Amino acid sequence: MKHFIDFHEDVGIEELDYLLDLAADMKKKTKTGIEHHYLKNKSLGMIFTKSSTRTRVSFEVGMFQLGGQALFLSNNDIQIGRGETIYDTAHVLSGMLDGIMIRTFKHSDVEDLAKFGSIPVINGLTDDQHPTQMLADLLTIKEHKGELKGLKLAYVGDGNNVANSLLQACAKAGMDVSIGAPADHSCPQKYVDQALADAAVTGAKVVTTTDPYEACKDADVIYTDTWTSMGQEAEKAQRIEIFKDYQVNSSLFGVAHKDAIFLHCLPAYRGYEVTEDIIDGPRSVVFDEAENRLHAHKAILVNCFLNGDL
Ligand code: CP
Ligand code: NVA
Repeated sequence: MKHFIDFHEDVGIEELDYLLDLAADMKKKTKTGIEHHYLKNKSLGMIFTKSSTRTRVSFEVGMFQLGGQALFLSNNDIQIGRGETIYDTAHVLSGMLDGIMIRTFKHSDVEDLAKFGSIPVINGLTDDQHPTQMLADLLTIKEHKGELKGLKLAYVGDGNNVANSLLQACAKAGMDVSIGAPADHSCPQKYVDQALADAAVTGAKVVTTTDPYEACKDADVIYTDTWTSMGQEAEKAQRIEIFKDYQVNSSLFGVAHKDAIFLHCLPAYRGYEVTEDIIDGPRSVVFDEAENRLHAHKAILVNCFLNGDL
């Protein structure tokens, strides 16, 4: 059973190259109109207890393009929202679907869905991790830079779900990764340790610092995310104060390599975590990155549904 829940645990170092090639192949087939109905007659259930534009649309369109179908299961409409257990939901959905994608708050709920069910589970974001975003991000960087190994990615801002997954994914890809976040909002040590373990194999460097300029020095990629993630809305004013020195702007870009590119998982809040001149400027590849969610997710779907046997 192939799940895609945790980038560190579920993606092997060699498998990552395979997934990136598969995503590039999906993109080529989509762009040139070559039919690729690898998931004919397969059904994906998509449980959302948080909002989404990119993840929802890319998985839904991805399943359609692969010859299958996707069902949007909002928390407001299915019985999970009224207290039905993950245990019962996992058993019931396993009897009708071929796979589940879930976006929710508690990471353990996603793990439980996989534990109690008998079909592949894909993590479409939790409070702790955002693994599907990573494959699209690495594909985008590869397209713009040629190779991943040896590049440096700097993430500046909140040490959140996206930052945790970036630590896992960059180390696996052999990219140096540097996180610049305030001390009280740095990534949990667990993710730093996981990255260090993979980095020992791939040759990547892993650095965490409270200094955004140190993080971005000689970077090839600068990445940021919202200062207020879903579920933290009540703390917004306080968080603007905490992260104000961690804005990605032209001054920060000044210490990076001259040809450094800018990534953001989106949605973005201009004037807060990133200035308009950067996100809407020539170094920004955020819309390529967003489109690549589609191609990357199709690779994840095919790999999980066909158990790595395309
Ligand atoms: N980046 C991302 O996951 O976007 P959505 O919240 O719109 O799915
Ligand atoms: N860190 C953000 C990512 C959104 C795609 C959040 O969790 O809201």
